[in-house]
Amino acid sequence: MKTKTLLAASGLLAPTHALLRFGCSQLTVQRLDPLVNPGQSPSPHLHQIIGGNSFNVSMDHNGGHDLVKGSTCTSCQFTEDFSNYWTAVMFFRARNGTFKRVPQIAQTGMEGTNGGMVVYYMSDALFDTAQKSKVTAFKPGFRMLVGDPAYSTRDQARDWRQLTYTCMESQASRAPESIGFPKTPCKGGIMANHRFPTCWDGVNLDSPNHRDHVAYPEVGTFESGGRCPSTHPVRLPQILLETVWDTRQFNNKADWPEDGSQPFVWSSGDATGFANHADYVFGWKDDSLQKAMDAHTYVSAPMLKTQTIAQQNKCTVRDMVNEKFDGWLQKIPGVERLVF
Ligand SMILES: *[C@@H]1O[C@H](CO)[C@@H](O)[C@H](O)[C@H]1NC(C)=O
Ligand SMILES: *[C@@H]1O[C@H](CO)[C@@H](O)[C@H](O)[C@H]1NC(C)=O
Repeated sequence: MKTKTLLAASGLLAPTHALLRFGCSQLTVQRLDPLVNPGQSPSPHLHQIIGGNSFNVSMDHNGGHDLVKGSTCTSCQFTEDFSNYWTAVMFFRARNGTFKRVPQIAQTGMEGTNGGMVVYYMSDALFDTAQKSKVTAFKPGFRMLVGDPAYSTRDQARDWRQLTYTCMESQASRAPESIGFPKTPCKGGIMANHRFPTCWDGVNLDSPNHRDHVAYPEVGTFESGGRCPSTHPVRLPQILLETVWDTRQFNNKADWPEDGSQPFVWSSGDATGFANHADYVFGWKDDSLQKAMDAHTYVSAPMLKTQTIAQQNKCTVRDMVNEKFDGWLQKIPGVERLVF
């Protein structure tokens, strides 16, 4: 992890591996989940969403939903990327039992971006500097889910090798990573890291649980060069989402629970952190992602078009749920009880 940290944070050193890294501002925050709960408004819990503005209550590929044709803008830096990416929303639970949504902040070098996330697409194994390995970009209609909002134990969370948190000392912090929520105040905020599976069955764009058509490498990880299992032989780019939750205004321990436990809760009601999850619906224009992956460039990608942060911030979708989730709340929308 450390090697990646320094390279990614500086962006100056000679490339030793290939990846795209770009910022996306907040497209919207709503209680919708067109992957797991299509057509359901509101969905069980609140999400924060980035990407193309074709995002909607339903996004049925077979029903004709086309993220590229249906979008007129994207909140991402690369204007060929109309994909949607989303995670749960983090809340602070004060000692008096009320909740407040934790804001998201842009990373260093992307100041001015309205919330959102940083997205990586990696094409090469991180420590295999000699090899330029091939990855196959996702196909139109492809979608997947990583993590499980119903999980609440460390043992369950082992199913997801690389869903983690970093208790940030500063903006450059990337290590150590934990599987549950950090237990002490984090000076620079909490980064949530979502690494999606990188092996595909080569056939199905989706599966009933949105997970079975993809898998992790047989051993190790994508970054350690792990081989894909024979059931899922097609090597995909490694998608990594980094979300920085700006917890700094909530670091006063006098506002934390009296038993000293950590006060952050996912919008699903999970106070353990083990319910960490993220969703992806592919929506790159034509073969732009494949071309960018094949070029083995580092961070930037001259073959892709970029837009300014001001333009990214302008791309939003209208509120379709009409629900209040800012200010101090008596309860998190849709959540009847918390899971500790
Ligand atoms: C979302 O879906 C509704 C219902 O199908 C449709 O009327 C609306 O135009 C869609 N919005 C966007 C931005 O595509
Ligand atoms: C609950 O605690 C928060 C944080 O200390 C405070 O800002 C808020 O006003 C309190 N709300 C009530 C109803 O006491």
